[in-house]
Amino acid sequence: MVDVRDAAKVLAEARRVVVLTGAGISAESGVPTFRDSLTGLWERYDAQALATPQAFDDDPDLVWGWYEWRRCLIERVRPNPGHEAVAAIEARAPHTVVVTQNVDDLHERAGSAAPIHLHGSLFTPRCATCSRPAAVTACDEPEEGRRLAPPRCGQCAGPIRPGVVWFGEALSEEALETAVQEATECDVLLTVGTSGLVYPAAEIPRVAAMFGGTVIQVNPQPTPLDATAAINLHGSAATVLPALVKAAWPVM
Ligand code: APR
Repeated sequence: MVDVRDAAKVLAEARRVVVLTGAGISAESGVPTFRDSLTGLWERYDAQALATPQAFDDDPDLVWGWYEWRRCLIERVRPNPGHEAVAAIEARAPHTVVVTQNVDDLHERAGSAAPIHLHGSLFTPRCATCSRPAAVTACDEPEEGRRLAPPRCGQCAGPIRPGVVWFGEALSEEALETAVQEATECDVLLTVGTSGLVYPAAEIPRVAAMFGGTVIQVNPQPTPLDATAAINLHGSAATVLPALVKAAWPVM
């Protein structure tokens, strides 16, 4: 695989690395992606019926039940070699920042120190009314599609909502600013498992390329980021990323 060797050479020489991940890096852990034809969650659900503030206002039990089902599924699965390879890059490159669109905690469980969660996290619920952080409760294993009444806030009795960014909501300014700043300064931006369709996250690889960074993409399918990537590694994260790390740092 010439391309993996080319990518490994660039990665091994990089001083500043950004790793941007999407749902595809968690696919081999058994977490469904969003838009994949085979495993895409949205084949079964209308995304707009679940991922907007209006949806939660209209039917909090449906939305809370769906997110709790996903959280409980994530708690049952494990990080895969793709997540572990990302943590290995952090341990080897002088400066690495992980920026993820995922709301799971698999990067953390694989050893990534402090991934930037652009779209929030299923593990930071908060009150929908007063925004006070809420406790993450033990999973009660709701099956997919079961409605579940959200818990109530201990302070104001408002409904607890998932700590994720819904369509129509703004991302955390600090998270986005840090991710963009790191992209302007990086030598390499490795984009893994994202369809590159949702902004502003999808802009980050383009920012890196604009500022002279080399963009390497890992995805079994073509995406709109193909044209931005200097190297496109067409394969799955759990296979390509460990090979990339091994080729970049053979002796470590
Ligand atoms: N390894 C690498 N990539 C994979 C794998 C795999 N094993 N399996 C699937 N993929 C790729 C798919 O080809 C697709 O390009 O992962 C991508 C998943 O795309 P999406 O499902 O659109 O997920 P993502 O890009 O993270 O979505 C961005 O949209 O739905 C919102 O907020 C949500 O964060 C999400 C955002």
